[in-house]
Amino acid sequence: MTEPQSAPFTPSPAAPSTVSRDIVIDCDPGIDDAIAILLAAACPDRVRLSSITATHGNVGLALTARNACKVRALAGRPDVPVHAGCPRPLTARVHDAAHIHGGNGLGGVELPDGEGGIAAAHGVDTLIAEGERGRTLVAVGPLTNVAVALIKRPDMATRWRRLVIMGGGVATGNVTPAAEFNIFTDPEAARTVLTTTDWPQAARPVLFPLDATHQALLSPDWIADLAASGGAVCRTVAAMLGGYETPSTAARGGKCVHDAMAVAWTIRPDLFEARAARIDVVTDSGASRGRTVADFTSREPTADIVTGVDAPAFTGWLKERLVSLDA
Ligand code: BDR
Ligand code: CA
Repeated sequence: MTEPQSAPFTPSPAAPSTVSRDIVIDCDPGIDDAIAILLAAACPDRVRLSSITATHGNVGLALTARNACKVRALAGRPDVPVHAGCPRPLTARVHDAAHIHGGNGLGGVELPDGEGGIAAAHGVDTLIAEGERGRTLVAVGPLTNVAVALIKRPDMATRWRRLVIMGGGVATGNVTPAAEFNIFTDPEAARTVLTTTDWPQAARPVLFPLDATHQALLSPDWIADLAASGGAVCRTVAAMLGGYETPSTAARGGKCVHDAMAVAWTIRPDLFEARAARIDVVTDSGASRGRTVADFTSREPTADIVTGVDAPAFTGWLKERLVSLDA
């Protein structure tokens, strides 16, 4: 593994031509997935949440799809269709994170289902239909739906305007020392997506690994301040975060909000810095299974890996946007 040289923070250039106004979120809610959906809904002047597709992941598909419906209701967006995708990994055994996100996937917080149910079309077909409309895809769960869409329609690599992924780790893991949850849960799918070389060079996938998401944590003060702002959305987010226990939470002094950063990139790329790298994913059995291997020296990069975050600006902006949903 070749690691990036350290360098001062230089924001990634805003690339409006490589991000569509309409975005699709493929997710496994999941507490940070829920915050990602809320953030998209909180920026209507910059993005329009076109649809949500659910995958297996933090909890089973029946719960992640239902949780997506609950979160769209909380966000005041009952119009956004929610589609259920794949219920299990391509070949791996099912693996979840209920010990982190709670048995219901939302930290034990019970929310009403809201209007409307789960839409009829399959999540994979929805990702393809959204690609045909040139939409940006933000994938923040295991990459099963995305991989199946690419297997079914390889041309999606040039049809999605941009693919932004939360997953992987250059120098760290969170399921094993080598592997991050979204990649570990379906390494074969991740390898299918991340070793595709058909992406346009100017619109390579953007990858948010743990090395980036661990840079901006939500402190106890941040969470208390959000709760005190008084609205239903903010109180609910604070309650969910109270039931969100990552093993690193205590040691790091705050809670990771991984998935919200991937949505943030589509709106505020100036908050992040990224470097091009060629990515591979280890699919062998053994201690390295699910590792993302990033070669920052490659002349044929396949992704832009986020390496730096303006943490105070990101966490401040996130709070301001969540508060705006209650206004
Ligand atoms: C990722 O794993 C999940 O538990 C989170 O929702 C996030 O997508 C972080 O490793
Ligand atoms: Ca997730």
